Amino acid sequence: MKKIIITIDGYSSCGKSTLAKQLAKKLGYTYIDSGAMYRAVTLYFIQNRIDWLSHEAVATALKDIHLDFVINSLTGLGEMYLNNENVEHLIREMVVAEKVSEVAAVKEVRDFAVAQQKKMGVRKGIVMDGRDIGTVVFPHGELKIFMTADIEIRVQRRFKELYEKNKHITLDEVKHNLELRDYIDANREISPLRKAEDAIILDNSHLNLEDQLDLVMQWVEDAIMAHS
Ligand code: CDP
Ligand code: CDP
Repeated sequence: MKKIIITIDGYSSCGKSTLAKQLAKKLGYTYIDSGAMYRAVTLYFIQNRIDWLSHEAVATALKDIHLDFVINSLTGLGEMYLNNENVEHLIREMVVAEKVSEVAAVKEVRDFAVAQQKKMGVRKGIVMDGRDIGTVVFPHGELKIFMTADIEIRVQRRFKELYEKNKHITLDEVKHNLELRDYIDANREISPLRKAEDAIILDNSHLNLEDQLDLVMQWVEDAIMAHS
């Protein structure tokens, strides 16, 4: 069967990576979490006290950053490595979430990440989620999905995930972070979060994971047929 590129963009914590992983598993495709790359660069900048408002400092620091997705043999999923260190858990922490949208708005950082993301799609058979995947990284992707969900539902979902690891986290803190990131992501100058014209909107506020997958698999089949 012909392999396609599936792009999933949308707001924070609406279920993009969950859907992308389900699709990749079902189709035997590679899943790439583009947000993990921005999070890893942010982690490096925080750890090394890089001033991301200085274009010169950013350009110099990026030369020392090597990112890899290494497949975990147990889960079959790629995990983020920053300069040969597994940072998959560290990049999900609140200290990174608080700064990542500022870092991701910097031109040099976007150029750095987008160049690597484009290369990952050359052989197709890929599901990538993020904010600019259907608009900038793969404007010719065969199936584009733009996800959204009610903010209160998104807050509940992310809170549940974070609370398992950190019992001090509050709902207000999570809500503030999601709203702030959505605002910065949608209003930045370079590659703001936008629905691609040819993307299908998926509002999953009231969809469970099974029904969501059934619905999207139908879109996948249609896209494969249309491009065969
Ligand atoms: O999973 P969650 O929705 O919390 O975010 P993420 O996908 O891990 O992305 C973290 C941040 O990286 C976003 O809030 C954006 O600022 C940035 N990002 C981006 O600018 N472009 C992408 N393609 C992916 C992420
Ligand atoms: O990648 P993104 O930040 O958009 O979201 P995610 O990490 O895939 O999903 C955030 C949480 O929402 C996960 O715990 C999912 O299991 C949950 N979720 C859900 O409960 N119902 C859905 N229809 C989609 C996601």
